[in-house]
Amino acid sequence: MTSIRTVGIEFADQLVGLWVDTFMQAYDGVHTPENIRAYCAANFTAERAKADLSDDRTRCCAVFRDGRPTGFYILKDHDCPIALEGGSAELKQIYVLAKEYGSGAGRALFQDALDAVRGFGRAWMWLSVSDLNQRAQAYYDKNDFEPLGPGPVFEVGTDRLTSTIMARRV
Ligand SMILES: CC(C)(COP(=O)(O)OP(=O)(O)OC[C@H]1O[C@@H](n2cnc3c(N)ncnc32)[C@H](O)[C@@H]1OP(=O)(O)O)[C@@H](O)C(=O)NCCC(=O)NCCS
Repeated sequence: MTSIRTVGIEFADQLVGLWVDTFMQAYDGVHTPENIRAYCAANFTAERAKADLSDDRTRCCAVFRDGRPTGFYILKDHDCPIALEGGSAELKQIYVLAKEYGSGAGRALFQDALDAVRGFGRAWMWLSVSDLNQRAQAYYDKNDFEPLGPGPVFEVGTDRLTSTIMARRV
């Protein structure tokens, strides 16, 4: 059975596990194992998870199959650096485990995230996507995001990745 729900600080250890597993699966062959390990060690800590899960402006939602988490999203209620009329919230991450790709888990998470942005009273969802990540870009194109302009430079170990800010109305 599949279910989806908002999670809080009690989920910190499971979030770290999902962060690491989904990142390694998504970027295997894109970044070297050393760079992936460096990124995971620097970013996917229990402290970071607890900070995100206890931040009033951040919502984390996980999808479960038979009680086990298989994917998540993290949404932050803050405006896009490129002004959008009606206000916006950032989809910081949306990931599912590789064995669940194509299962509908991503669709359920994405619909929930759109509802949450409307719940915040914002008109837009925005995000930054790496220019290298063609699979993610295809996913966002399919989900009606439009490119707005350049985003931050992401660092994955020694790799430097330019990014593009994309947004869609909710
Ligand atoms: C992107 C991701 C969350 C989608 O989850 P999923 O469970 O595979 O998606 P679903 O099975 O719910 O599919 C939802 C829809 O998106 C489509 N889709 C999924 N991945 C796609 C892609 N890379 N490009 C285009 N469409 C895609 C599906 O075909 C489906 O379309 P439909 O509604 O017309 O049937 C998942 O593939 C993932 O975690 N990928 C790796 C991490 C990543 O790239 N995250 C996003 C950027 S950070």
